[in-house]
Amino acid sequence: MKKLIVCACALISVSCTQKVLVSGSYELCPEPRSVELSEGSLVFRPGKVSEKLDTTLGKGLEPFQKEECYSIEVGKRGVVLSAASQTGLLRARQTLEKALPPRLEKGEVATLPYARVFDYPEFAYRAFMLDCARHFFPVETVKEVIDIMALHQLNYFHWHLTEDQGWRIEISKYPRLTEVGSIRAGDPVPGKEGHDEVQRGGFYTKDDVREIVAYAASKGIEVIPEIDLPGHMLAALASYPELGCTGGPYEVACQWGVLDDVLCAGKEGTLQFVKDVLEEVMDLFPSKYIHIGGDECPKVRWEKCPDCQAKKRALGLKADGHKTREELLQSWFMDQVSAFIEAHGRRCIAWNDPLVDWSNDVVGAPSKNTVIAGWMRPVSSEIAVKEGYDAVICPCGHLYLSAWEGNILKGEAYLRRVFDLNVHPETLSAEEQERVLGVEACLWTERVSERDSLLWRMLPRMSAVSELQWSDPERRDFEAFLPRLSRMQDIYSERGWTWNMAAELPE
Ligand code: ACM
Ligand code: ZN
Repeated sequence: MKKLIVCACALISVSCTQKVLVSGSYELCPEPRSVELSEGSLVFRPGKVSEKLDTTLGKGLEPFQKEECYSIEVGKRGVVLSAASQTGLLRARQTLEKALPPRLEKGEVATLPYARVFDYPEFAYRAFMLDCARHFFPVETVKEVIDIMALHQLNYFHWHLTEDQGWRIEISKYPRLTEVGSIRAGDPVPGKEGHDEVQRGGFYTKDDVREIVAYAASKGIEVIPEIDLPGHMLAALASYPELGCTGGPYEVACQWGVLDDVLCAGKEGTLQFVKDVLEEVMDLFPSKYIHIGGDECPKVRWEKCPDCQAKKRALGLKADGHKTREELLQSWFMDQVSAFIEAHGRRCIAWNDPLVDWSNDVVGAPSKNTVIAGWMRPVSSEIAVKEGYDAVICPCGHLYLSAWEGNILKGEAYLRRVFDLNVHPETLSAEEQERVLGVEACLWTERVSERDSLLWRMLPRMSAVSELQWSDPERRDFEAFLPRLSRMQDIYSERGWTWNMAAELPE
């Protein structure tokens, strides 16, 4: 599909003033629930916008829907934004901002068609995950990502901060995590052994984190930190080798993939380390949710480690069905972590691995209050719900914006991979569907190191993501989506955000 830059603005010349009126539009992503147009349009001025709290608005909706529900009335006298909460007013402002013409040239004046917009989200949890550990991105770029999220009415920024390849958050009690763990010697070179010799690093200071958390909050977005454990921890082991089963020495990874060295589940010091880190993390992030990872944790070191084996015996863990004793040891370890987090009044999110594997077998039993992020397959989150968990839908084949497979699709297919995902599977009863908290897109950054290639991967697919998260599923229709997308592309271009509809990706 060639680039769609279709200007949806109507240009009307008014001879007596020589002003050119440029009309805004409510053809936006995510599509609002309802837009009732009426005859005429308003010459827009910021001073003509008033806001009102109206607690009756959204009566009868689910509580989270009411919280974010809003209306926009555009008439002769101006624009009235109404909502039952401040968050709702914020969502109204976000919609108004993008409904206005993306740009005005000298002598042009914005107009808005008379209308009543009434809107609320489908899901309470509408997230985007950015991996800042495989590659570090400066605060300014993270803020730009948050701007893109806000434009699409997302409300959770899942920030992946720790990895085998780098530890990215300052922790006062463990300074080596950033002194040592934030730097790696190089990156793999495709098709070759070893790695290049370009040292890469970077981390967020506590002030950086506070700045990002506050910036996101100003846009109605909560930041969820992820400390990925017990796997994907090589940067921490390189900093503190005593946290591993063998005691090291270890190096911050210069290769991608799933690595065997993980946190030792048997040593008391490991759990204390995790709690200390999380204590500081919870001080920095006021979020309801804390993501504790749990993905891709090989058990080969645990199988040979005297401490892990002793812990297994002490706990009396016995293999049970598909669940090996090492998998139960991971469940136990993560349960200790989630109990700690819950004791601080927060709630854990974990990837689906501790519960369900690639074969869709149930392999463990994380604590029941953990939210399960189903990344492996579309069915992973369904299985989590059937097992009694709250779940988030984020299957890699559809919602990993970094997925190579997705990236080689062109044009429509590229978008449809996201747009056509069924986020209301028929296998779930209405009651079970309520356990699906929402939908999340994820961007892993093994092959993304620059701002442009990051935005290039997000856009325009975030438009499709936002429709899964926010819009009315009964009205989902790809053909009707395309003109809205076209207008969003105009907005992206105006804001200087690179977007693509093709296979070629910049490195
Ligand atoms: C994951 O992609 N390892 C969550
Ligand atoms: Zn061990």
